[in-house]
Amino acid sequence: IPRSHIRNFSIIAHIDHGKSTLADRLLALGKLTDERTGKDQILDSMDIERERGITIKSNSASFYWKGENGETYLFNLIDTPGHVDFTYEVSRSLAACEGVLLLVDATQGVQAQTLANFYLALEADLYILPVINKIDLPSADVEKTRAQIEKSLGLSGTDAVPVSGKSGINVEALMQAIIDKIPAPREQDAAQGARALVFDAYFDTYRGVVEKIRVFDGEIKKGDQISFMRKGGVHPVNEIGISQLRLVPQDSLKAGEVGYVVTGIKNVAEVMLGDTITLAAKPASVPLFKYKEVKPMVFSGLFPVNGDDYPLLKESMDKLALNDPALIYEPESSEALGFGFRVGYLGLLHMEIVQERLEREFGLALLTTAPSVTYHIYFQHKPMMTLNNPAEFPDPGDIDRIEEPYVKVAIISPSEHMGAILQLLADKRGENVSMNYLDTTTVQIIYLVPLAEMIFEFYDRLKSVSRGYASLDYEFAEYRRSTLVKLDILVHGNKVDALSMIVHKSAAETRGRQVIEQLKEHISKHQFVIAIQAAVGGKVIARETISALRKNVTAKCYGGDISRKRKLLDKQKEGKKRMKMIGSVEIPQEAFLSVLKTG
Ligand code: GTP
Repeated sequence: IPRSHIRNFSIIAHIDHGKSTLADRLLALGKLTDERTGKDQILDSMDIERERGITIKSNSASFYWKGENGETYLFNLIDTPGHVDFTYEVSRSLAACEGVLLLVDATQGVQAQTLANFYLALEADLYILPVINKIDLPSADVEKTRAQIEKSLGLSGTDAVPVSGKSGINVEALMQAIIDKIPAPREQDAAQGARALVFDAYFDTYRGVVEKIRVFDGEIKKGDQISFMRKGGVHPVNEIGISQLRLVPQDSLKAGEVGYVVTGIKNVAEVMLGDTITLAAKPASVPLFKYKEVKPMVFSGLFPVNGDDYPLLKESMDKLALNDPALIYEPESSEALGFGFRVGYLGLLHMEIVQERLEREFGLALLTTAPSVTYHIYFQHKPMMTLNNPAEFPDPGDIDRIEEPYVKVAIISPSEHMGAILQLLADKRGENVSMNYLDTTTVQIIYLVPLAEMIFEFYDRLKSVSRGYASLDYEFAEYRRSTLVKLDILVHGNKVDALSMIVHKSAAETRGRQVIEQLKEHISKHQFVIAIQAAVGGKVIARETISALRKNVTAKCYGGDISRKRKLLDKQKEGKKRMKMIGSVEIPQEAFLSVLKTG
């Protein structure tokens, strides 16, 4: 296939607008048949899937399509992650393309992540083809969506292709639009020799690490010695080819082509996504993509519910990190919760995914501390300290000032909910940046909000005040000075380190009260009176009391039958395992969970 007949593109969309469904539809329509052997690749790969019992990621592959001119085109559909937490990953995948299909659900219109993804494609200098999806639904409003695309994205609404990924309506016209609108790969830069971008990688049991690449200049052949411009090191090309759901080896990949390379690397962590491959014998001078270190934005402590599971947690984290270079962690120990890890995440979704995978794939029961952001703490005579664990908060007397991260939040909502959303933003210490109407009934609101407020009940409250209609996107904006204090929780005079948190001074009392009320509900009576206190800098700002126990629990059973007494004792023993001792007070695991859930 000549370069003029190659189309490299991605599909970008707000979550649930139908990206995977459309990708599957395109692949099913496209001929995955190998032109030479006549073998049908889709069936082949399904067999592999069945045999190995694994799910092959189906939304990233090459396929052929015959255009209206009767000529065959090669389409390379490149998968991108769909969420804001993974912006950098999206940019990296987009760097391998010439164009994108920007998918908009005709029943929902333009949403917050439609815009965020649109800007990423714009920055990457890609051709953007708007596609209006789900036109099979009775509530689809194609004209309104066209108008929104025109108004909020500045793209031509009339050029937008209406389709249904699910029923297949008009998808063939979309194929032709891809040929007509999305540019062919650019001419190669002869001065650079060979260059290919590594936009993804995964581990294959048979081959080791498979790097997915887009060749921009020159040619990379089987048997070549290649090097990574950033990571260094020389590796042989053991196998090179294209991915048509299954891997199809070729002799080489040329400028403009997308495929994979296998170089005998055994550990995904050794591959830097975004790196540039070049020939060891004639290395290029300029890398293709600006490599960026991704910085975690949100931190939390992660502890096994059962202390014996710490080695399993460590092993599981190590395994997970092989597939997720953005995941960072270091050991942490807490007086209340024992041994665990301090974990950094790209954002809230990333945090949820990591915790869910640990619980599901590794069978771990986990306890997480309230998420925290990274604070910058400035002193009079010492260098600045970055703090992401409230337990390490320094002596307030030494602090000159504290700065906290702010994010720029973009919300799109039906305008009838605007009042409630503005109230929520005000409650969250937000500052208005701008507001504008995307059409007569849809408003876009942009605010600066402290990230710490975003990770505390923001999304749920936004969804509830907008009856589920508002969508949200945010990105880091800047560090700003704030009046922040460390809130400590004391049980019977002992500080519970895992419950310490950093809060805005104005919110300290409310937060403190919430936490101690939760604790009071979950801690049972002891032989003595227990005080539960919230304190800031040694000063108690809220207090609850649990009165002392009057009678022995087992007293009732004395004289009763022996088996009943044993049962009760066994039950108490079982319960003990799930208790944490703080000083002389037993705090049940649920107490921690309930407190953390409010945060
Ligand atoms: P994420 O992977 O979560 O980002 O979602 P996505 O954008 O990939 O959406 P997906 O393809 O999973 O579709 C989301 C939902 O919309 C699913 O329930 C689909 O069945 C449905 N859907 C997708 N395309 C269409 C369509 O053209 N018409 C109708 N009626 N439903 C569709």
